[in-house]
Amino acid sequence: MIGWLAVLVVAIVLVIQFIPVERNVSTVPPGQSFERTQKVPANVAAILKVSCYDCHSNNTSYPWYSELQPGAYFMAQHIKEGKEELNFDEFNDYSKRRKKAKIKSIISQIEKDQMPLKSYLLLHHDADLTPEQQKVLMQFFQSELEL
Ligand code: HEC
Repeated sequence: MIGWLAVLVVAIVLVIQFIPVERNVSTVPPGQSFERTQKVPANVAAILKVSCYDCHSNNTSYPWYSELQPGAYFMAQHIKEGKEELNFDEFNDYSKRRKKAKIKSIISQIEKDQMPLKSYLLLHHDADLTPEQQKVLMQFFQSELEL
């Protein structure tokens, strides 16, 4: 009985590997236009690249394990929702009002330790913001609000 159950579980895991997911890739490196237009300092850009662009840009970097289901499915959902709310590659097209609202939202998400998503950090430890990195990001986005 246990043997058949194990076979069934393995079969299901194998079958779901064939569920296709849409990949979020572009030939343009993520964040370029945002970083140029907003004159983002290099240390801020480096943090955004590791911690935010996978879900908030048009170009996700996919390590090998990201191909595995069911993780790939959930990641694709996060990317879709994340980009809808905030896409650094489309930031320059936002209205002035929307830009301001998004910057305020970024500050509050970081302040409340809500971004990057906790489920993402399980496999992406390097994306977890240290208190120092949170400070760097908040200072930068605060200064953007004063412009
Ligand atoms: C694993 C994917 C993922 C990563 C990485 C990620 N986010 Fe998000 N983000 C989301 C999703 C999904 C949403 C929308 C749902 C929600 O708020 O939980 C979101 C929402 C947001 C919002 C809310 C936008 C609004 O309209 O108010 C902001 C701001 C934000 N993220 C900023 C960031 C910042 C800054 C980083 C990097 C420090 C980051 N996110 C990293 C997935 C991600």
